[in-house]
Amino acid sequence: MLDVALTLNRRPVRLRARSDQRLLDVLRDDLRLTGAKEGCGKGECGACTVLVNGQAVDSCLMMAYQADGTSIETIEGLLDEGRMHPLQEAFIDKGGVQCGICIPGMVLAAKALLDRDPSAGVEAIRHGLAGNLCRCTGYTKIFAAVVQAATSPRQRRAQAPAPSGSTPRSFRPRTLDEAIEMLAQRPDEIRPLAGGTDVLVQAKDGTVGRGILFDVTGVLELHGIEERGDDLWIGAATTHTEMMASAAVAQFAPALPAACAVVGGPQIRNRGTLGGNLANASPAADTVPTLYAADAVVELVSVSSRRDVPITEFFLGPRRSVLARDELIVGVRIPRRPGVRGAFLRLGQRQAQAISKVSVAVGIAFRDGRPEWVRVALGSVAPTVVRAPRAEQILLAGGADALRQAREIVKEEIAPIDDLRSTREYRRQMAGVLLERAVRKATEA
Ligand code: FES
Ligand code: FES
Repeated sequence: MLDVALTLNRRPVRLRARSDQRLLDVLRDDLRLTGAKEGCGKGECGACTVLVNGQAVDSCLMMAYQADGTSIETIEGLLDEGRMHPLQEAFIDKGGVQCGICIPGMVLAAKALLDRDPSAGVEAIRHGLAGNLCRCTGYTKIFAAVVQAATSPRQRRAQAPAPSGSTPRSFRPRTLDEAIEMLAQRPDEIRPLAGGTDVLVQAKDGTVGRGILFDVTGVLELHGIEERGDDLWIGAATTHTEMMASAAVAQFAPALPAACAVVGGPQIRNRGTLGGNLANASPAADTVPTLYAADAVVELVSVSSRRDVPITEFFLGPRRSVLARDELIVGVRIPRRPGVRGAFLRLGQRQAQAISKVSVAVGIAFRDGRPEWVRVALGSVAPTVVRAPRAEQILLAGGADALRQAREIVKEEIAPIDDLRSTREYRRQMAGVLLERAVRKATEA
């Protein structure tokens, strides 16, 4: 059992959790805080949403020991001296309370949004609730309730400070040396865990045991976004939310924020990390084409080696990469190219919470009004993300017909398949369409 110290609904709490218990399990089963529900158990519905340090998080995708040292709010904590929170009152007023499964998570996701942006408009509310599903389709009343609460004059309560953590370092190493030493000792038995948005879904499916995971999000050397020499460095434990908020990422990897913005809902973006996305090695990962389109290099380290791998050589196939069992992804370096432009577009089954059928990222730099560097990368159209060098050459050469030619040639540079999400032919056609739109978007920006 592991000691976990946290602030829960503004009270200090110490508890003991098994190494394979999720936060959701401890909240519901041990603490009897049953407002958080288990719907999908895979980060797709938001019914288990809680606030961790003020951010909406799916508690089904977080281990209990990862809550050590954090401040957590559940729906039970919203009552203030017997009064409901304005959001709860607004949900009742507007008829937004339709079932007990989805609404607690909806209210908490809305609270995270309004605490951050008290005057959020309808569009921001839609995005803020994109990680929460309502199967009875009562969204109109739910949005109306959040709009009403957004205009409520009541003040936000101060966050209680998070306590210092007490989980043993064997589950939460604090330094890179500790983490790689642990991997070196048991490379075939343990696996790093960051946001958990992929690996805990695999655990739910039974392909990974939760007991073998150890949390690397406490390792300081894996955090940060920094300009280092000629490069922009992004730490492996940087979340999608952090990348979206970074001016440096927008400047030097201009397609990356748009890719981060379509990864899951806010709960997933608040937890999912760049390093986790790479380690998972999905050909449909949305951030990866943008890294191809930025000439990124992946930094890997183990006890015995340190190596840099160009992103184009990192992946070997679906779920396979050159990452060895004793290696950790430390971060990604992206050359700081002055004036670089970029765009990312994708097609999914729907706008939010969908895996891409096809995605395109472009990066373009100009000199004297002419392209001097062009990258085109595509996802979900081959066993790994791929570059399209012939389309790149055509765009580099320029000319009145370049865009049309690139749109046609890119269809020959990919190898899509028929699967549950789409057909080979549709993917091929849409790759060309998306490329044209992405180039226009990047160049007209
Ligand atoms: Fe559906 Fe956690 S139970 S996101
Ligand atoms: Fe639960 Fe709509 S509020 S299904």
